Amino acid sequence: MKVTLIKGDGIGPEICDSMKKVLKALGSKVEFEEVNAGASVFEKENTFIPDEVFKSIEKNKIAIKGPITTPIGHGFRSINVELRKKYDLFANIRPIKSIKNIKTKYENVDMVIFRENTEDLYMGLEEKISEDEFHSIKVITRKKSERIIKAAFEYAKKFNRKKVTIVTKANIMKFTDGLFLNVGREISKSYPDIEFEELLVDNTAMQMVLNPNKFDVIVTENLYGDILSDLGAGLVGGLGLIPGVNKGEDIAIYESVHGSAPDIAGKNLANPIAILLTASLMLDDIGEENLAKKLRKSIEKTMEDKKNHTKDLGGDASLEKITQEIIKNLGGENE
Ligand code: NAI
Repeated sequence: MKVTLIKGDGIGPEICDSMKKVLKALGSKVEFEEVNAGASVFEKENTFIPDEVFKSIEKNKIAIKGPITTPIGHGFRSINVELRKKYDLFANIRPIKSIKNIKTKYENVDMVIFRENTEDLYMGLEEKISEDEFHSIKVITRKKSERIIKAAFEYAKKFNRKKVTIVTKANIMKFTDGLFLNVGREISKSYPDIEFEELLVDNTAMQMVLNPNKFDVIVTENLYGDILSDLGAGLVGGLGLIPGVNKGEDIAIYESVHGSAPDIAGKNLANPIAILLTASLMLDDIGEENLAKKLRKSIEKTMEDKKNHTKDLGGDASLEKITQEIIKNLGGENE
């Protein structure tokens, strides 16, 4: 099965190479079609996303990508935002789960954040009023709220999750967040077996830190989802561990939550777990669930030994070392 691979910038190429090696060792049927986008491509080709990237994604329907550096302060917002908009990848799904053998202040955290991916303040509707005043317009629509909230409830139903928490700031943004919340209230009525909880975003941030175990599925708008998923990453050990996927009706782009980490790029220091768990989400979706399970088990097993922890986890293992250990531990257990 062909999958588009975009290695991206910064640590992207290193972690994607690690992922390719691990998937090969797993015996996955995935064949990668490599194209590239990002800052490094711009330097050579004067475009951030060459046409062949679009063609490949449209043909294969499934892509996995490394992070891309976003130029700040220029006309261009973000390649990620462009791809999400072009393919209407409305659901950004980010599982925040404690990994066995990676100790943090919290145990057994297991929540999934559904972030609306196409509207809110990320639409780029900014206007200059004067040199000293700029406006940014927040857009929330019923149609787009409905589909992300439904997706969250359907996920909860499918995976036997008990609760969906809707996160807004509807007390202040009465029209926009008020609409999102009202749509949530309406949709929740079709899922009587799933508890429906309403929380304000500031309170959510506090509760996530005080007691993350109370959360199950969270559904929220674009900006709140962006911030809460980084907060969630911090609860379970950092950005180097959190997978994600952007899904539309027929195209899915798998990518970790973290960025291109320019501070550690090219130094063999990056943690590949996030991209490996991202790959495991992809394997789950393409019918290779057993391989996905095997991969997750191997990651847990590899983490038993602190010598295999990368710098972000307090250790000094290199990217190459942890990749080799994960491959070694794949063989051990059969489901
Ligand atoms: P970042 O996620 O790249 O880095 C934040 C901190 O986390 C850094 O200290 C970094 O070393 C560490 N970190 C991130 N991933 C790691 C990993 N796998 N292993 C070990 N440590 C890791 O966020 P930052 O610095 O805000 O953004 C850098 C660039 O990445 C920016 O241009 C930003 O726009 C872009 N970005 C791209 C994303 C994407 O393509 N999906 C997502 C987020 C940011």
